[in-house]
Amino acid sequence: MCGIFAYLNHLTPKTRKEVLDFLVNGLKRLEYRGYDSAGVAVDSADGNNMAIIKKSGKVQALEDEINSLASSLAFDTIMDCHVGIAHTRWATHGVPNAQNAHPQRSDTENTFCLVHNGIITNYKDIKLFLAKKGYTFESDTDTEIIAKLMLHIYKSHPQNTFQEIVEQCIQQLEGAFAVCFKSKLFPGECVASRRGSPLLVAIKTKTRLATDHIPILYGKDFRPHGGPATNETLTAASLMPRTPSTAEFQPMEEDKQVEYFFASDASAVIEHTNRVIFLEDDDVAAVKDGTLTIHRIRRNLDDPHAREITTIKMEIQQIMKGNYNSFMQKEIFEQPESVVNTMRGRMNFEGQSIILGGIKDYIPEIKRCRRLMLIACGTSYHSAVATRQLLEELTELPVMVELASDFLDRNTPVFRDDVCFFISQSGETADTLMALRYCKNRGALIVGVTNTVGSSICRESHCGVHINAGPEIGVASTKAYTSQFISLVMFGLVMSEDRISLQQRRKDIIQGLRQLEEQIREVLKLDSKVQELAKDLYKHKSLLIMGRGYNFATCLEGALKVKELTYMHSEGIMAGELKHGPLALVDETMPVIMIVTRDPVYNKCMNALQQVTAREGRPILICEKGDKETQEFASSILEVPHSVDCLQGILTVIPLQLLSYHIAVLRGCNVDCPRNLAKSVTVE
Ligand code: G6P
Repeated sequence: MCGIFAYLNHLTPKTRKEVLDFLVNGLKRLEYRGYDSAGVAVDSADGNNMAIIKKSGKVQALEDEINSLASSLAFDTIMDCHVGIAHTRWATHGVPNAQNAHPQRSDTENTFCLVHNGIITNYKDIKLFLAKKGYTFESDTDTEIIAKLMLHIYKSHPQNTFQEIVEQCIQQLEGAFAVCFKSKLFPGECVASRRGSPLLVAIKTKTRLATDHIPILYGKDFRPHGGPATNETLTAASLMPRTPSTAEFQPMEEDKQVEYFFASDASAVIEHTNRVIFLEDDDVAAVKDGTLTIHRIRRNLDDPHAREITTIKMEIQQIMKGNYNSFMQKEIFEQPESVVNTMRGRMNFEGQSIILGGIKDYIPEIKRCRRLMLIACGTSYHSAVATRQLLEELTELPVMVELASDFLDRNTPVFRDDVCFFISQSGETADTLMALRYCKNRGALIVGVTNTVGSSICRESHCGVHINAGPEIGVASTKAYTSQFISLVMFGLVMSEDRISLQQRRKDIIQGLRQLEEQIREVLKLDSKVQELAKDLYKHKSLLIMGRGYNFATCLEGALKVKELTYMHSEGIMAGELKHGPLALVDETMPVIMIVTRDPVYNKCMNALQQVTAREGRPILICEKGDKETQEFASSILEVPHSVDCLQGILTVIPLQLLSYHIAVLRGCNVDCPRNLAKSVTVE
């Protein structure tokens, strides 16, 4: 949902071309967040103004535009200190065109300009207020009002610092935002803030930083060394001047050269530095004269004194495509390793024991709970559907599986003795995060299951499990699904540790988990066969995927992959419901995929298969290797190795990931960036 990237170099000479390359490259890393238009703002060649370059379409279009302006942008000019901001957009307010692209500006003089990720819900009121004051608007975005409000505040308080103007401005905003500002009035300074949308600051110095935290400067209440905090809040007008010294990161005398990056996520900065600060809601991070300070208006009782500088452990190769044609293809083929990484350090196969360090202290409390609720969106929701039956069996607790948006719409009753799991690859999905806060307010225990260390869901959970699948960049989720699936299975195993009656079952599952790496490698060998099948299917309008029991989630997830990537209609159908409607769709022309494995509902699946073949349907079967009896009814077969019933879904989903990928390629669709979608949905 929009990607923000900003780059500030202080006493670190860079040509304008280098700066623009950094910005464009940063946007390319963030392109999975939105890709309908993009823009940058840098100082103009004469140094007296700003050059704002915006283009509809992908980042490549922006890059081409920048290159075509090479001479007017004075590519070779060296800049010792400079601030550039950049944005890739996923349109919410206003169509995707250059006018609505970011940066948005306060006036034709470019006094203030900004990039924004999120939605300002009170933008109409602010727009009306500003219009009455004589401001005019050039875009349809909610973002533009922020730029104009900045100018308005500046005109009313011309003595204020850049950071103070931003502080006053964000106090007027409602909704979700991460914002990053550049101003003609404050050259070399950059100010950023967030509420509800992710934002981090990354620091690059020649030598390792002497400090590993940045103290927070509070408004009137600020106490550098603790002391009684109050809940008193400040009005914008009564802002005290900034408290100096201890509360800032100042590069040491011998190390004044510093570079800062502001970004929506770590994948955009990792090639420059691995030292980052994840900003919290309402933090205002400001860089002036090469010094970073973090400010907050108010201080509440449990607010910390500092923000930690985290060393992130991402490798650059993890965010490169390598020899693959797309990130999605790479991520599908990474699954033998990613599932092992999910289990690494947690599963002891010899001792048959499992430790989930992030939740182990909470297990007694979870065992006492009244019910488990698994809440998520999209693919993450499907991982909950996939493991619900097993969790019911292993925990003997009622397990509710909820789509976050619907859960919120219903004002679902939640109690103190509920345990709520929030499953999210990005850890930033707005609906999931809202549902988390809703449950937290009602006293439930909050467990986060995410792939993104430092994400909002991670930070706001009481405890959690990192799925450790590695960065997932393709918009359609693949390896995160299998890792979420395994994380939830491991949780079930932990919960059933001392149940005598379940010991054999647990052994079978642990053995199944151990074999997964090899079995996934075997499934991936189906790739060329799946590609051939894709050639038969890609011209069709529709594709039905049927199954039940443990494999129903595979049907939902497979159909979601087909929809997302190929724009074909596709439905995951619960085979038990076939005769209640979907059977009417079946004839000799309708492509049908059926998943039939030797699990407790095998006979029922065979009934469904016969109902389909009796209507002249010629289904493609995903079934277990060597299962001749089942295969008799199929037009084509995709054989996967046998696993324990509750893990079979990990193996049956992979052929469908591959199929959607190949159909998308044949239909000429952009695999990594499907139309109208974004990976991290930070708006409700
Ligand atoms: C978007 C993505 C999906 C993802 C869903 C939930 O719709 O395109 O791939 O499954 O959000 O995202 P999360 O990050 O919460 O798992």
